[in-house]
Parts: sequence; structure tokens; C-alpha cells
Amino acid sequence: MSTLSGRTAVVTGASSGIGRASAEALARAGFTVFGTSRRKVSNGPRQVSMLTCDVTDGDSVSALVSTVLAQTGRIDLLVNNAGVGLLGGAEESSVAQVQALFDVNLFGVIRMTNAVLPSMRRRGEGRIINIGSVLGLVPAPYSAHYSAAKHALEGYSESLDHEVRAFNIRVSVIEPAFVRTVFDQNGIEPDSVLKEYDQARAGVDALLRDVMPKADRPEVVADVVVKAATDARPRRRYTAGKAARQVSMLRRFAPAGMFDKSLRKQFRLPV
Ligand SMILES: NC(=O)c1ccc[n+]([C@@H]2O[C@H](COP(=O)([O-])OP(=O)(O)OC[C@H]3O[C@@H](n4cnc5c(N)ncnc54)[C@H](OP(=O)(O)O)[C@@H]3O)[C@@H](O)[C@H]2O)c1
Repeated sequence: MSTLSGRTAVVTGASSGIGRASAEALARAGFTVFGTSRRKVSNGPRQVSMLTCDVTDGDSVSALVSTVLAQTGRIDLLVNNAGVGLLGGAEESSVAQVQALFDVNLFGVIRMTNAVLPSMRRRGEGRIINIGSVLGLVPAPYSAHYSAAKHALEGYSESLDHEVRAFNIRVSVIEPAFVRTVFDQNGIEPDSVLKEYDQARAGVDALLRDVMPKADRPEVVADVVVKAATDARPRRRYTAGKAARQVSMLRRFAPAGMFDKSLRKQFRLPV
């Protein structure tokens, strides 16, 4: 029997993509897994109990955590995966739209984390894994708000990890690059589109057409989630996939000017 049997994991946004693959991988590793979606899901991930939850709604988050604790008495692992994208020029989105993005990608994480921490602290153990992005390391053009939310997630996660380590709780961020999911189709469309950015939009679309067919499968990220969940000494950050590793290394070690030029070239911007 797996040493993880009897351990409970909650994965937000498990109806598709990275969350679905991670929930299945954690179940295969021996966790009892609860996945979430905002709607009732009939064909959820294998060996995963699906519950409804909207991470932008505090009552919905409390109800989810109470339901899981009532069924299992413990939450050993929380994977904050639910997220949405927003691709466009920074000035093409209203503040209300950016707030809606942050409500899922950052405040949703904070709501879920605040809801599970009391039971983890009481038991004196727990692990929280936040799905970040290389855009939390590299602020790419036409992703200003999404990059801002993922940068904020990096800062929040590292601060939190310092605070809760005293209770034997660890916090890690997983940083994937491009992953083949329906993320782009599910993304928020800018609400103040400007024709001045049409050419840039065409450049980003061309970039996505190039990279998406070669992008990582969600299972690549799921394997890293299982590693972060089971490492004896979890790290604060894990890149997921070859492209993410390369971006992270270049960001750290390549001269800033060279990095800037290469990023602009990729986005078909004049260098
Ligand atoms: N795909 C990529 O290239 C990529 C790269 C780096 C990082 N990421 C990150 O990976 C995570 C998962 O993305 P994905 O690519 O797997 O996208 P996805 O297939 O679109 O999945 C997104 C999930 O988030 C859930 N969700 C959205 N809004 C929600 C809300 N308000 N409350 C609760 N759940 C909500 C969706 O569930 P329902 O619609 O069923 O409610 C869905 O299960 C995100 O945090 C994303 O930022 C993705």
C-alpha cells in the first residue's frame, strides 16, 4: 500500500488541463483526491471526487473545505491551480477586468489558502502548491496583467512559506511555460480593444501558432506537482518542462540586454 494512502489532496480547477492531469497523477500516487470545478462535472478526472467551487466566492470556498474535512478529517495538500488568462495590450483592459483576473489568479489562491491553513496548523503539517508560470519570472509583452498576477503569486508564496514553515507547512510554486490546454480559449478577452495593437496582436497570434503544437503536455506539469507534493525537502520553486527551465536559466544568467532583445524578437517587436 502507498505511504500516501490516507492523505487528502484538494486540486482547484480539476475539470481540464493541468488541474485535471495533476489530480489524476496525485490519485495514482496514492492521495485521496478532491478536484473542483465551478459546475457539476460528469466526466471528471479518474479516481478523483469532483466538488463544485468558485474560488472568487468566499462562501463557496468555505463550503468546499468544510465538505472535504467532514469526509476525511484532513487536508494534507492544496494545489491552487484554477486560473484564467488575459492576452492583450495593457491599456486594452479596464481596471474592473484586471480586478476580475486577480480575483481568480491571486485572491482565489489567498481565499483557498486561508481556508485550509487553520486545519493544517492544528495538525502540524501540510503542503500548498501554487501553479505559477514563467510569466511570474519574465514580464512578457501583451500579458502585463496576467504577468502581474503571477509575479504577485510568487511574492505571496515565498512570504507565506517563511511564515508557515514553523507549523511544518511548506509552500511551493510550479512554473510551467506553454502547456497544451484549452487555457487560451478560456481566457478573458480585453474589453477595450485598440486598433493600434492589431499588428502586435497578429504577432502574438503567430507566436502562439508556432509554439503551441510543440508545447508541453499537462502531464509534464502534473509530474512536477507530484514531485513537489512528495519531496522530503520541497523546494520553493519548480520549473516544469524544458522551455520553462531554459527561460528561468536565461533570466538568471543571461545579460539583461541580450534577454530583452531575444524576448522582443520572439514577440516580433522591433529590437
Ligand atoms: N496552459 C498554459 O500554457 C499555462 C502555462 C503556465 C501556467 N498555467 C497556469 O496553469 C493553471 C491551469 O491552467 P490550464 O492551462 O490547465 O487551463 P484550463 O484548462 O483552462 O483550466 C483552468 C481551470 O481553472 C478553473 N477555473 C477558472 N476560473 C475559476 C474560478 N473562478 N473558480 C474555480 N475554478 C476556476 C476551470 O474550471 P471550470 O471552468 O470547470 O470551473 C478549469 O478547471 C492556471 O493557473 C494557469 O495560469 C497555464
